[in-house]
Amino acid sequence: MSLQNKEQKLKHLFDGGAWNVYAPDILNLGVGAPGTDLLEPCCDLFQQASAHCLNREKDDNQSLIFQYGPTSGTFEVRHQLAQYFTQMYGSPVNSEDLIITTGATQGLHFVLSTLIDFNGFIFVDEFTYMIALDSMKHFTTLQIVPLKLNDDGVDLKDLEAKVSERRFKSNSKEFWAMYYTIPTYHNPTGILFSPDVCRGIVKLARKFDFLVLCDDVYNILNYIEKPLHSRLLSYDARTDEDFAGNVISNGSFSKIIGPGVRLGWLEVPPLLKLQLDRSGIIMSGGCFNNYTAGIVASLFELQLAQTHIASVYEAYKERMLTTTAILKAELPEGCQFSAPRGGYFIWIKLPEELDAGEFMEYTLKHEKITFIAGPRFAIETGKGKQYFRISIAFHSKEKLEDGTKRLCSALKSFMAITADVKL
Ligand SMILES: Cc1ncc(COP(=O)(O)O)c(C=O)c1O
Repeated sequence: MSLQNKEQKLKHLFDGGAWNVYAPDILNLGVGAPGTDLLEPCCDLFQQASAHCLNREKDDNQSLIFQYGPTSGTFEVRHQLAQYFTQMYGSPVNSEDLIITTGATQGLHFVLSTLIDFNGFIFVDEFTYMIALDSMKHFTTLQIVPLKLNDDGVDLKDLEAKVSERRFKSNSKEFWAMYYTIPTYHNPTGILFSPDVCRGIVKLARKFDFLVLCDDVYNILNYIEKPLHSRLLSYDARTDEDFAGNVISNGSFSKIIGPGVRLGWLEVPPLLKLQLDRSGIIMSGGCFNNYTAGIVASLFELQLAQTHIASVYEAYKERMLTTTAILKAELPEGCQFSAPRGGYFIWIKLPEELDAGEFMEYTLKHEKITFIAGPRFAIETGKGKQYFRISIAFHSKEKLEDGTKRLCSALKSFMAITADVKL
């Protein structure tokens, strides 16, 4: 096989191959990205924000936005983010705790490479964001350990048992292990971790001195109510006697403005902030995304980001509520799902004897609909065969309505055929 990469002149990630969202008649319910319609206002908004930012740079700031930025990002940028997320989370975000990144993907890589012993462990939920698993596998000396997931979050007994039997004293890095999770509107299961589970995670992290890295990319997309705490980091209270700083929140604008912007932030406790700020990777390049961060800060200063995020939120909410209402009414008996309270994803469980991969082949053939089957989200081979994930983010309400109805009807006939074959 030739290893030469054939130039396909793609315009985005879902443009070609198996993911092609433009393939005729195929409805791809797998895409975890904002729909094209939701990105449309961005050109106008970014034109205004760019003019605002660059005029100020030229007139008042000696064009320093083009210089290596301060490691965490400028105070002005972090201040805008802190102000907005303090309001959205309903709890204080301090600008001095923030480090600008190029998105949650890079945030995870940066933290892994800087704070975790390479002979250590990464604990993950038994089903988790599949591409995070791919990124972790690049660290070939780190062992990835799956943890049982319940309806209200990770199984604390399983977490305790697995960390206690593996713990060691790291001589090279701050932490011997990391627990990577998505506690708020989990990918792929849609779960919101309960306050008790969040408290339990923090307690164990302090007791066994591991780091908890939370991908907090869906947190403000709450469609039913604001959770008690909008991010797990709040449970790691600085006023606690045994506070050390075991939780990092890994945020991103990918889902609420646009993934092409490649801008995110880490919210980090003080001791770890010092270590990250002094790392070679950040010192060498300065702020990871100084230019874009400046433009996005203007987007907030002009109140354009706030209005845009509010409208994207309304679209997602309508899509989620529409899709879950249809599933509640039309998903055949024997299948299960729990309506997510926020985020992008719905996780559907088929009856024991069925295989989601086979069902996907069936729906592709008969209804021209695709989604992602469960095993893609598991580190353990063969796990998750009964599950599949659909996303509400990419398609319009109308397409989702039609697609979900056809999906349910395909499931009914697939179940009938499978039952016949087994007779
Ligand atoms: C849990 C999770 N983390 C990270 C990402 C990617 O984030 P970013 O675009 O900020 O790198 C995604 C995108 O699907 C995600 O679902």
